[in-house]
Amino acid sequence: MGPADESSSSSPAAASVAPLLRPEGWALLEALPPYAGPDTAMALGERLRAEGAEAQLVAAAMTQSRLRAKGAAKFGPFADGMLFTAEGLEQATRLQVAAHHAQRFRDAGCSRVADLGCGIGGDAMALASLGLGVLAVDRDEATAAVATVNLRHWPDAQVQRADVLDVISQLPELGGAGGPGRVDRVDGAWLDPARRTASGRRVLDPHHASPPWSAVLDVARRVPATGVKLAPGVPRDIAAGSGLPAEVQWVSVDGDVVEAACWFGPLARPGRAASALVLRSAERGGTATLVDDDDLPVPPAVASPEGVGTYLYDPDGAVVRSGLVGQVAALVGGSLLDPTIAYVTSERLVATPLARAFAVEEVWPFGLKALRTRLRDRGVGAVEVLKRGSAVDVEQLRRSLRLEGPRQATLVLTRVAGRQHVLLCRPAAATRA
Ligand SMILES: C[S@@+](CC[C@H](N)C(=O)[O-])C[C@H]1O[C@@H](n2cnc3c(N)ncnc32)[C@H](O)[C@@H]1O
Repeated sequence: MGPADESSSSSPAAASVAPLLRPEGWALLEALPPYAGPDTAMALGERLRAEGAEAQLVAAAMTQSRLRAKGAAKFGPFADGMLFTAEGLEQATRLQVAAHHAQRFRDAGCSRVADLGCGIGGDAMALASLGLGVLAVDRDEATAAVATVNLRHWPDAQVQRADVLDVISQLPELGGAGGPGRVDRVDGAWLDPARRTASGRRVLDPHHASPPWSAVLDVARRVPATGVKLAPGVPRDIAAGSGLPAEVQWVSVDGDVVEAACWFGPLARPGRAASALVLRSAERGGTATLVDDDDLPVPPAVASPEGVGTYLYDPDGAVVRSGLVGQVAALVGGSLLDPTIAYVTSERLVATPLARAFAVEEVWPFGLKALRTRLRDRGVGAVEVLKRGSAVDVEQLRRSLRLEGPRQATLVLTRVAGRQHVLLCRPAAATRA
């Protein structure tokens, strides 16, 4: 597989952004009413053209108005003053997460951070808004132009259109003088490598992202305070072979794991190889809960199905990916259902954002025919299905169950003490954070 790549100069994105960089294009965009769906937008576009506005300007402004509306999910009210490319918005770090990235750099005492592959500037804006100087670099013409607009409020943030591989070669070697065009005064570096090929295919392996993992390590060797955003599926020991101290932190927002960030040098907390940051969006309380690998012993797994307690906990994905399920078990005074499965059971109901809790009604060995009969007998007509350690195809199971009845339930398909079981559950509302 080739390295991930994106659009080059004179792309359709560049053509659709360029008109907005002219004063009349910007003025038209700023004068538009809030986006109200495609039909209203089309009528508005027709009216503006009929009033004499240039077609290209109108098209660019209408596209931007739609992207701003979409961008509110990541940037809240700030989206209304930003520019986006469709790809750049898709790849951008949401502000709530970027704020945590920026906080790491500030806490480590950095003063100027190079954002190497800055995209539309999601992370760079968060860095700048904490008062840090920023050198934001992107090789894509439209993306760099958009980042320049988005960073306009911060005089200490500069955007450079360049290949980050060239910029990296100019970073000073540790203890050395650096290359001829040396990028000095940078004491932190952030990378968020592109994980899509030109054809839009996802790249899961960081060695094939752009810039690749080898370049990330090159940066971390030159600038000790380096952080990098990776796909959540990266192995826990991703940085182990580098010889550099590192912490990998998995981050979730409202239950979705959005990234694994690898923090090197002074950005890594001593003794923390893995951690989880569980965030709730502003609409759901705006909380941040940190889980660390602070050596709490993982409680033993239940020995038999009789050991399944009154409650089942389904830990947040960031907790599971970081291998810290034992922390949830300890928090709720519970045990694992199985030594290799990330479900926890307990007699206690504990309110925590780190796991969804369910009341366990019944536990059965897995068997399709018996399950169908049991669910019918209990009037279960609709099920949410959770599974771990089970090869069952959920959609096929739903079809085979042919459920009828007024009740809703949660079915958990998993191993209990080494054997396939089904747990009939219902959500325990107290823990829904
Ligand atoms: C995932 S995006 C960054 C998103 C950004 N963190 C944000 O929050 O908006 C990756 C960016 O890296 C840029 N990029 C990838 N390889 C590059 C390279 N070799 N030189 C410069 N930019 C590069 C892409 O153009 C893309 O805009």
